[in-house]
Amino acid sequence: MLSKLIRATTRRRMVHFRGGGRVIHRSVGRGPRWLSSGVHNIHSNWQESDFKIPERTVHDVLSPTLVISLPNVRHNIAEMINLCSGNVDRWRPHVKTTKMPLVWRLMMESGVRNFKCATIREARILAEVAEDEGLLADVDILVAFPLHGANLRALGDLATKLSSCKFSCLIEDSSDVGSVPSNVGYFLDINPGMDRTGRPLSELASKVDDLAHIVSEHGSSRFLGLHFYDGHSGTTHCGNERQDFLFPLYDELLDFVKQLQESGVTIPEIITSGTPSCTTALKYEGFKEAAFVHRVSPGTTVFHDYKTHEENDDLASILRPAAAVLARVVSHPSPGSLHVIAGSAGSF
Ligand SMILES: Cc1ncc(COP(=O)(O)O)c(C=O)c1O
Repeated sequence: MLSKLIRATTRRRMVHFRGGGRVIHRSVGRGPRWLSSGVHNIHSNWQESDFKIPERTVHDVLSPTLVISLPNVRHNIAEMINLCSGNVDRWRPHVKTTKMPLVWRLMMESGVRNFKCATIREARILAEVAEDEGLLADVDILVAFPLHGANLRALGDLATKLSSCKFSCLIEDSSDVGSVPSNVGYFLDINPGMDRTGRPLSELASKVDDLAHIVSEHGSSRFLGLHFYDGHSGTTHCGNERQDFLFPLYDELLDFVKQLQESGVTIPEIITSGTPSCTTALKYEGFKEAAFVHRVSPGTTVFHDYKTHEENDDLASILRPAAAVLARVVSHPSPGSLHVIAGSAGSF
């Protein structure tokens, strides 16, 4: 069952090893950055040995192959929970950067129950893993996009099929609420300036009464809170500079929260942050001991990557590289050139 699910979520081959070895790492989805040579130059506190795939793995497995270090995955999950001061309930990991039931199972074993995903397929497979673990009724899955048409209906169908699991999506405007299936919850998506999705706070603040009316008309229990993805903060330096950039945004967000609450809306949850901003968000006092649950949603922290390592000192000091692409040199056709196979074109 497990291997079937792994195949269903990744077209690449994947092997994992349990012996403490660490692995070569490549950042996923943030521009190519190979670290197979000159590893000793990349960062003072990463050593060449951090990237060594065990000889036996290199010898035994067909390549190209995705190699996962389970000890390092476990380590990174535990460190994320530590960052949340031991309160796993403050972490809603995005699963698009891990895409693997095996890893999702480890998260569930560590107590993670709230997840974010990008596709209906990820939502379905994640829910199947939860069902397999006997956790379906405890798991909460947000498909973190505004959905429309067939996609929205597919999420409704999934929520009907796996009815004890909690599913939700994003809405951008009160007029979207009517089309969300009645068994699916929703978060109001706010655009904090990166222009991914959502409406700016200034626009939403002028519609608070309308929002309050729609929320109560459609059953307030389906309104699950606010989604405020501040992923663009990766462009600022970490430390005080990032804090100076983000805290005023969070202050604005809390002003909006206050307005909604004064209009009678209960806000169960506020979701912020991918990897670059999660440590800053976790330090923001207004998110602690609040009337809502605040959750951060980094996913890249589970496998970790070099970009994160380079741009986030606080994460670089605690996370380990946990995923690698085992590539192969197939030819050395002329002096100074190598033909390396690392992707699907050279799969077996
Ligand atoms: C809406 C949303 N939430 C969370 C994340 C996870 O962020 P990261 O990959 O930085 O961990 C992403 C990633 O793009 C995202 O789009």
